[in-house]
Amino acid sequence: MTPRETRRLDTRHLGRSILLFDAVPSTNDLAASFAADPDAAGTVFVAEHQSSGRGQYGRLWQARPGSSLLLSVLLFPPPELRRPVILTAWVAVAVADAIRDLTGAQVRIKWPNDLLVGGKKICGILIEQSGGVVVGLGLNRDQTAAEFDAAGLPDATSLGLVAGKRIDRDSALDRVLRHLDAGYDRLLNGERRELETVWKERVGLIGQPVRIDFADGTARLGRLRDMGFDGIELQSGEYANEVIPPERIRGLTGC
Ligand code: BTN
Repeated sequence: MTPRETRRLDTRHLGRSILLFDAVPSTNDLAASFAADPDAAGTVFVAEHQSSGRGQYGRLWQARPGSSLLLSVLLFPPPELRRPVILTAWVAVAVADAIRDLTGAQVRIKWPNDLLVGGKKICGILIEQSGGVVVGLGLNRDQTAAEFDAAGLPDATSLGLVAGKRIDRDSALDRVLRHLDAGYDRLLNGERRELETVWKERVGLIGQPVRIDFADGTARLGRLRDMGFDGIELQSGEYANEVIPPERIRGLTGC
């Protein structure tokens, strides 16, 4: 598959090679097809349109051609960073910072990896691991409220809607990649605790009543005492103070 255009950024780890395509089945699948090539580390695959874009839990991810920033990055992080909760926190915080820069809006992280502005979803993240790690994200950029309503997505928003003006693809791409790169550099330099602190703040549920949905289909209600990469502390009647490994949690919502 031949890109329409290639570019380079003066970043450290990702974006030094950017391949832009008009249409691909899925940028995540394209990035994964390079996972046997260590030289492809940090390559960014961007598409205007995906014919089989994938979301979490095997869902389809659809976007009008040209409406969204659709990209995937291939990376080979060291083993200690290959934990979904750490990778997800890194991407969520970095993209939230990029959205803030582009629009001025406050962004919340909804467990595990949705980004919300004013309670509406603006970005979805799909991180997949095989030989390498593929970080995929779909950032709504140019959609109107009428378009979301017509698609049956009243709880979605876009950069343009939030900013009140059009945000072009290249500005969004540049901001997102620079924040991802800087955050990845900090993680490689051992700054896990710093990321954990910002992530916790952006989830914004400490001290509040929450519902935890587990991967096995069960759920529990309680008060969120604390959260970190090594455990989510829940206080509930049944279990006075329980520390739950993040890997067991599928959803964490305020209630
Ligand atoms: C979600 O379900 O919220 C995650 C959506 C992730 C979509 C992005 S778009 C670019 C990349 N390629 C894919 O096929 N999926 C991700």
